[in-house]
Amino acid sequence: MAKLKTVYICQNCGTQSPKWLGRCNACGEWNTFVEEVVEANRGVKQAVLLDRKLKTQAVRISDLDDSEEERIDLKNAEFNRVLGGGLVCGSLVLLGGEPGIGKSTLALQVALGLITHKTLYISGEESVKQIKLRANRLGITNDNCFFLSETLLEEVVLHLNQFKPDIVVVDSIQTLYTEKIESSPGSVSQIRECTTELLRFAKTTSTPIILIGHITKEGTIAGPKVLEHVVDTVLQFEGEQYHQYRVLRAAKNRFGSTAELGIFQMQNDGLREVTNPSELLLSHTDEDYSGVAVSATVEGARAFLIEVQSLVSSAAYGTPQRSSTGFDLRRLSMLLAVLEKRVGFRLATKDVFLNIAGGIRVDDPAIDLSVICAILSSDLDTPIARSICFAGEVGLTGEIRPVNRVEQRISEAQKLGFKEIYISKYNRQGVELSKYPIQVHLVAKVEEVFKRIFRSSL
Ligand code: TYD
Ligand code: MG
Repeated sequence: MAKLKTVYICQNCGTQSPKWLGRCNACGEWNTFVEEVVEANRGVKQAVLLDRKLKTQAVRISDLDDSEEERIDLKNAEFNRVLGGGLVCGSLVLLGGEPGIGKSTLALQVALGLITHKTLYISGEESVKQIKLRANRLGITNDNCFFLSETLLEEVVLHLNQFKPDIVVVDSIQTLYTEKIESSPGSVSQIRECTTELLRFAKTTSTPIILIGHITKEGTIAGPKVLEHVVDTVLQFEGEQYHQYRVLRAAKNRFGSTAELGIFQMQNDGLREVTNPSELLLSHTDEDYSGVAVSATVEGARAFLIEVQSLVSSAAYGTPQRSSTGFDLRRLSMLLAVLEKRVGFRLATKDVFLNIAGGIRVDDPAIDLSVICAILSSDLDTPIARSICFAGEVGLTGEIRPVNRVEQRISEAQKLGFKEIYISKYNRQGVELSKYPIQVHLVAKVEEVFKRIFRSSL
């Protein structure tokens, strides 16, 4: 048996150290070093290196095969979209998310939905009975979908070689362990070893593998960063646990864009694909409320309209609170400072709460203008007409900056029955505005928007 030695490994970044450290030198995290047993490296003798014959050869890039990768259509439009048009054969996909968000449900639903491919769902988390109950709940039957309850990697690989599935799901990577390493399942070296072994299987047999991974409190996938480096695609499944909506986004994708979003709705019988998000993200009410503004947003290749809600009230206790869900808090502070300085609003003594409807997080800067309008509307207690929407980034000087894909935003707003849209004056170039029946307001400064919308209430 190989000689065993122990090292201390940072559970955050994977850095090794011969002795315990309180703080990791590489990533700066505290209390992350854990002693793990690793197999001692067998010394590589110089002679071996000298004797070595060439086995590989460099190839001219222009001579390389440039045919498209082969993809499997997962029969799930939202999942396909996030992957960049289907699951690439031989790729390793990591699906991360908080406990209870619906990772296992999503993976099982996709596996069960694929009748044309032989899928193997390996779970170390749930028993046969639990999986059966879940499958019953989803209400799909598929004779081509198989289940294996196993946590030992060596056993899993034997099964894979014998069974030869077309698609593999491993739930979860943290429960797998290999006998080669002494440390406990879920530790850095176990995760690294198991992932590398599965990667080898995926690449040599051209079988795609979906790995499910847990997320730590800090929001990163538990286990070292190396895991993210090894896999081809990192997907995050997120959402508020008590909201119905779930968003699937790619944090890394070797075979597609990372800007795409997949939106799902968790229902009693599984996840429903949301192909037209605007319908769900806009509230269907005829009453006018102050503090609500609608933004024409683009995520990936898709435009949709989303509601921004704000509540501004006098701070009851000393320090005013600023709180935001689905929108960056620092950006909110910046926008509040712009309002103070450029439009002359006194918000420093007020509590400001901001909420993006549906529990969805939006990164698109074009939402700035609707954030500002929602805040102003709540502060003045004046509703904005339901037929108006916005798309513009706000700069530090209070200027409204152009946004990308403005035509797509305008046509989406029009499709949903909006009558007016406010966009940046600098977006006019190259856009044929006259072809849209919707009224397009071109604005250059926050003050202008303010005057046009709230003038009557002053
Ligand atoms: P699950 O897939 O087990 O989450 P994860 O694998 O990410 O930990 O999903 C768990 C939640 O989803 C659970 O609270 C129940 C809920 N759920 C539904 O609402 N509808 C369903 O059809 C299923 C299967 C689960
Ligand atoms: Mg699970």
